[in-house]
Amino acid sequence: MAGTAPIDPTASTAWKELEGIASGFAPDLRAWFAAEPERAARYTFQAADLTVDLSKNLVTEEILGHLLALAENAGVAARYQEMIAGEHINVTENRAVLHTALRRPAPGTPAAADLDPASGFVVDGADIDAEVQSTLEKVFAFADRVRSGAWTGVTGKRIETVVNIGIGGSDLGPVMVYEALKPYVQAGLECRFVSNIDPSDIYEKTAGLDPETTLFIVASKTFGTLETLTNARLAREWLWKGLTASGAIADDESARTGAVAKHFVAVSTALDKVAAFGIDPENAFGFWDWVGGRYSVDSAIGTSVAIAIGPDGFREFLAGFHAIDEHMRTTPLAENVPVLMGLLNVWYTNFLGAQSHAVLPYAQYLHRFPAYLQQLTMESNGKSVRWDGSPVTTDTGEIFWGEPGTNGQHAFYQLIHQGTRLIPADFIAVANPAHPLKDGDADVHSLFLANFFAQTKALAFGKTADEVRAEGTAESVVPARVFSGNRPTTSILAPALTPGVVGQLIALYEHIVFTEGTIWGIDSFDQWGVELGKQLALQIAPAVDGDAAALESQDSSTKSLIAKYLELREE
Ligand code: F6P
Repeated sequence: MAGTAPIDPTASTAWKELEGIASGFAPDLRAWFAAEPERAARYTFQAADLTVDLSKNLVTEEILGHLLALAENAGVAARYQEMIAGEHINVTENRAVLHTALRRPAPGTPAAADLDPASGFVVDGADIDAEVQSTLEKVFAFADRVRSGAWTGVTGKRIETVVNIGIGGSDLGPVMVYEALKPYVQAGLECRFVSNIDPSDIYEKTAGLDPETTLFIVASKTFGTLETLTNARLAREWLWKGLTASGAIADDESARTGAVAKHFVAVSTALDKVAAFGIDPENAFGFWDWVGGRYSVDSAIGTSVAIAIGPDGFREFLAGFHAIDEHMRTTPLAENVPVLMGLLNVWYTNFLGAQSHAVLPYAQYLHRFPAYLQQLTMESNGKSVRWDGSPVTTDTGEIFWGEPGTNGQHAFYQLIHQGTRLIPADFIAVANPAHPLKDGDADVHSLFLANFFAQTKALAFGKTADEVRAEGTAESVVPARVFSGNRPTTSILAPALTPGVVGQLIALYEHIVFTEGTIWGIDSFDQWGVELGKQLALQIAPAVDGDAAALESQDSSTKSLIAKYLELREE
């Protein structure tokens, strides 16, 4: 597959059928539910702990049949098999794509019984299982030492705050999971996350911290990312300044080196660069070029999470991913949840004109999940050429966005309910809260989830003009109070927000992305689109720093903006 031309989905019979259905499509969820009392049951699926109700989507058996034919034509199942076997499906970088290998159970454990292959998983000459497990063991041993207090700062004090410095996949995954699993974080430990090169970020994140009890994790796949290396240098300076100012260490080279050894560790595929920064390679955790940044939270990039929730929690997190990987690998397409959700996204994007997709967690701890999904989905599938370099034949990607409910209800839901745009939305909730608080006799979580159920019902079934009138509404405002309904939603319900469930949710969306990317024929694992801006920032930096010749060489808009900046800049 890696070297083969992608199939043009738009040339298939299924595509033409779907185009035919889409023209003049008049979905009627009220009628569909009335005609088929079993609709909810028919379209509700289980993937590991996730109960996924697709019934409020604008889909019929006929539509689904054609979408499944698209998936068959594009070879979604076969390409998934190629991916997990280590073929170089990341064509533009000539790399295997093996994030699924990060969560294969350790060989020899009971969970490994169903592995395929059961042992001897060798890719490009490397024993993948052995490498993954030995890195995990190293991360876990370190995490245990930090958690127990065996690992101390340079003055012998135990670590209280872990500051992860990274950006993109080296930040969004760890921070999202840390926030999601706050109730599992060991008492006395806190993680903070610095990503932006805006100096305010590191300033605020180090504010109030004691350098003697702070550990920095510099997380960067390439160890060449401007933001991360700049922040790492700022952090090192902060550490040295703090320790020398208090007299905790002497103000000399060897004391500084000793402090870095105890307060800095790194996660990277480029261990030579880690050493050049001054971090002892002994304190560095590696990973591999076959893990994309946005697919890396389950690698050593998740070290901050492993410290926070502990190795057992992290193993449970990985098992969650693996459960969905197995669902994806073994479940027929017609019941395969990530495939079905990916196909529905194709339906909305390519046939019904949707441009964006809302993700609305009814779980405050998932407040960073939409941001995390923005990188996963948009960096993966925002492409205009296919994996053979030819132009795409249809629209790709969706703009993912969202905020937790119920906050969003009081902000942007108006547009989802009554606006002119089609916005498919995923609603995510858990049955058991971390904090089962009561308001008098009322269970607050149940009240919270009443909103989760109410919103998808309102979006699906709306409110007719007659129903509005029956409430005694003045005729002049009836139109404003009508809800059209037929606004598609998917409801995802899990037992609780455990490490395993968080892993399952991430893997679910990874495979949705995969399904869509395969249909569109794109390489979902490169990200060349971020490069130009990075290059230009480096070229422009001297101009911003006052180099007249560099300023002169800019286009007129950039030149005048920089000139204005220099004029406004005090100092
Ligand atoms: O600029 C995009 C990107 O390459 C992401 O894909 C990646 O997650 C992020 O930068 C950070 O890269 P690194 O981990 O190499 O610092």
